[in-house]
Amino acid sequence: MSNRTDWFVHDRFGLFIHWGLYALPARQEWVKSLEEIEDAEYDRKYFSRFEPDLYDPVQWARAAKHAGMKYFVITVKHHEGFCLWNSRFTEYKSMNTPVKKDLLTPMVKAFRDEGIKVGFYYSLIDWHHEDYIIDTHNHPRRNGDIESLNKGRDHNRYIEYLHNQVRELLTDFGKIDILWFDFSFPDKNDPLDLSKGKGKAAWKSEELYSMIRELQPDVILDDRLDLPGAWDVKTPEQFQPRSPYKVDGQPVVWEACQTFSNSWGYDRDVLNYRDSRQLIETLIDCVSKGGNLLLNVGPTGRGEFDYRALERLEDMGNWMRYNNRSIYGCAEAPPEYEKVENCLLTYNRDKNRLYIHILSWPYKHLHLDGRAYIEHVEYAQFLHDASEVPIKGLEPWQEHSALDAGFDSEKTLTLVLPLNSPPVEIPVIELFLK
Ligand code: GLC
Repeated sequence: MSNRTDWFVHDRFGLFIHWGLYALPARQEWVKSLEEIEDAEYDRKYFSRFEPDLYDPVQWARAAKHAGMKYFVITVKHHEGFCLWNSRFTEYKSMNTPVKKDLLTPMVKAFRDEGIKVGFYYSLIDWHHEDYIIDTHNHPRRNGDIESLNKGRDHNRYIEYLHNQVRELLTDFGKIDILWFDFSFPDKNDPLDLSKGKGKAAWKSEELYSMIRELQPDVILDDRLDLPGAWDVKTPEQFQPRSPYKVDGQPVVWEACQTFSNSWGYDRDVLNYRDSRQLIETLIDCVSKGGNLLLNVGPTGRGEFDYRALERLEDMGNWMRYNNRSIYGCAEAPPEYEKVENCLLTYNRDKNRLYIHILSWPYKHLHLDGRAYIEHVEYAQFLHDASEVPIKGLEPWQEHSALDAGFDSEKTLTLVLPLNSPPVEIPVIELFLK
């Protein structure tokens, strides 16, 4: 059965890009709300100075491709309301900043040219639009006299704007592979007061959904429109699920969205970048639980990827070059294959191969417990150089103490490893199964 998420669960690894005016303050994409910056000040400082002169989307696309990423999701409009494309429905767009360009069209082209699928992130929330009902949760002006601040604001006009922009995005840019809305916050106390929260009724999510499906029947939709049953992918954010994701007890398609350093937008002063090894491990961890990883870069105000992100993408790509067979087309191991100490497992069902990612190098032997390994493993090799990994227990002269030492060939398949870990960030053993 062909499903609109088939390519997605095969490809596993995508690039998130958070880029907007907030690249200039360089203190996260929430800066306008966190620091309660008024529109006029925000625009005077940032809108009037947005000029990414080094912007070269071809370089971005190449960095993503090298890393092994197969799709990307760009914030065409984030909560600040600023648009990266030449929308007919607003003047609040890159065309009207000093850069004077539609930044989205060349980006979409550059990524497509590299064979990378295209996703748009669109913020339902809008801290700039004059008809957006100011709310007490996250709006930069949430602490004023909300009622009087909201006077004259016409929510329906905002919703029309939102629907028009979504139509425009799904009409003018060819086939869009992913649409990523962010986010609903239905009010628990008073669903009628839009200053307390906004959910599916406020966004007219059902109408939006019909339009989306009419315009782009195959587009993959995230789960933040507040429409149970209508989404394609669950999007855990800034945490890793502990096992394959389930909703109401049923396994679902899921994708963890993660940052290098806890910020989505460019954050100059943040120092806690995760290292390449951690990030590779996160990717493997996702796939070992049947999920995807959407890893985020926040480009600078001059239009370049942060150098720290670039270094890590480069390292991930070097790992992927040799090991992507354990990522693409893979998911969690079938349950009969027991967990292996200090390892993560992935499995390719079409090829019937199991991949063991060794996180900590053992002393010579890798023990695979359980009959499934004994009965099904035909051959083992390292993935990076296709060198055989012998399957056998101990040398004859060691066997007298085998059982005492916990070597039990009735219950365990034992692989013999080289003394030192091969020069690969996380080595992978490929098991051919019968
Ligand atoms: C949150 C944040 C937002 C970010 C998103 C990514 O909802 O509001 O800044 O874009 O997560 O998942």
